[in-house]
Amino acid sequence: MTKAKADIGVYGLGTMGSALALNLAEKGFHVAVTNREVEWIANFVQGAGPLGSQITATDTLDSFVSALKTPRTILFMIPSGAPMDAMIDAVLPLLEDGDTIIDGGNADFNATRRRFDRLSGTGAHFVGMGVSGGEKGARHGPSMMVGGSAHSWQQLKPMAEAIAARFEGDPCVAHLGTDGAGHFVKTVHNGIEYADMQMIAEIYGILRDGAGWNAPRIGALFEEWQSGPLSSYLIEVSAAALQTMDPETDQPMVDVILDRAGQKGTGRWTVIEALKMGQSASAIEAAVGARGWSSEKPTREVAETVLSAGTLPAEVPEGGDLESAFLAARILAHAQGFRVLAAASEEFDWALDMARISEIWRAGCIIRSALLDDFAQAFRDELPEGHLILAPAMVATLAKTIPALRRTVAAGVALGTPLPALSASLAWYDSMRRGRGTANLIQAQRDFFGAHGFERTDQEGKFNVDWPELASENS
Ligand code: 6PG
Repeated sequence: MTKAKADIGVYGLGTMGSALALNLAEKGFHVAVTNREVEWIANFVQGAGPLGSQITATDTLDSFVSALKTPRTILFMIPSGAPMDAMIDAVLPLLEDGDTIIDGGNADFNATRRRFDRLSGTGAHFVGMGVSGGEKGARHGPSMMVGGSAHSWQQLKPMAEAIAARFEGDPCVAHLGTDGAGHFVKTVHNGIEYADMQMIAEIYGILRDGAGWNAPRIGALFEEWQSGPLSSYLIEVSAAALQTMDPETDQPMVDVILDRAGQKGTGRWTVIEALKMGQSASAIEAAVGARGWSSEKPTREVAETVLSAGTLPAEVPEGGDLESAFLAARILAHAQGFRVLAAASEEFDWALDMARISEIWRAGCIIRSALLDDFAQAFRDELPEGHLILAPAMVATLAKTIPALRRTVAAGVALGTPLPALSASLAWYDSMRRGRGTANLIQAQRDFFGAHGFERTDQEGKFNVDWPELASENS
């Protein structure tokens, strides 16, 4: 008996592709699968167990495409970049009007926009979809950020909603806008992920190096935080990691891990795109930069022996203070991320719905936390200037927690314990809460050496001054 045509095709049976295919099969969809290395396919089907009855395994692109119901929905879970372009070249001649191909990888949204444009006019549609939650999320409920046409979303929606994580019954997936909107939002999600991870690592650092706490003790503190306003997936995994022992040495696992962090690029893209739009996400930038510095291990080892610390006496703040400091900084880092999203929404005409983005980040994704529900509510209510830090609920929380962030950053500065992301978020807060900043002097400098002109506080228009002449007259 030949199997009925499949609802969706999954190309790429790596970790994420396999997990999504099984998730789809479990939710009752008929899934066609294939993989570039055909020898992986049999293993996958064997591992699928009883779900195998929902799966059609194919070993050529032609048979894969023909196994699908029309209009077709094909999810590519392959390395981003050139492989995606190669797959588009290969599959496009096999597609018909109305078919949709989806890139579910962590793609650069600029490439997604280009691919979307490439397909428009061919009759086929291109979707860039950010998928968050790692392997477990993909298998049991990811958060998904979808970009592309309304037509593609209609096709994909029932399947995406069925496999997504749920927050109080609400599926954590949404169509966020056209072309690269989904991949852009996923990129900023990852930027916030970098900042959150870095801030947790900074608090670990001040407790380890400033207060002499061992890893399990710090892990136990983080575990306590899980029952408060910092409750989140990243605190949960950090608490567990810090309390895990290495079976080989009986030392805390984190003590035998080399302090050199990897990165695949999405955090960096957030910062690059922010800067291109004249924005700054300084807490995210600090986190990306800190990963870069971490890889300069040999230099740091030399520097430790030659650079003097010049430290000052200070006490490491208590656990409760650190908890409040992180709460303030976490709000600020998210606010920076949302500001970048707002700038991109305007630049690319996406009309991003910040409340909905907050909602689909409440479960399934790596940055899921108790705060995201508060953010969703803040965006649903009227937001002065559209800025999260001006939401009344955030204003109130920041008023309570900023003193703790100041004490923590001050202690880090005095003790010589680096807190790049925590201090960047505080500096940004202090910049934003000043109606009158110091850019008037920047404008004077620019006009002095380059006649760039400036605006005045008391008159309309653009002005120049002959600075040397004025200075000599004044002397
Ligand atoms: C997610 C994650 C994931 C990302 C990893 C690793 O949302 O599930 O963001 O997509 O690939 O976190 O990213 P780095 O290697 O850049 O740290």
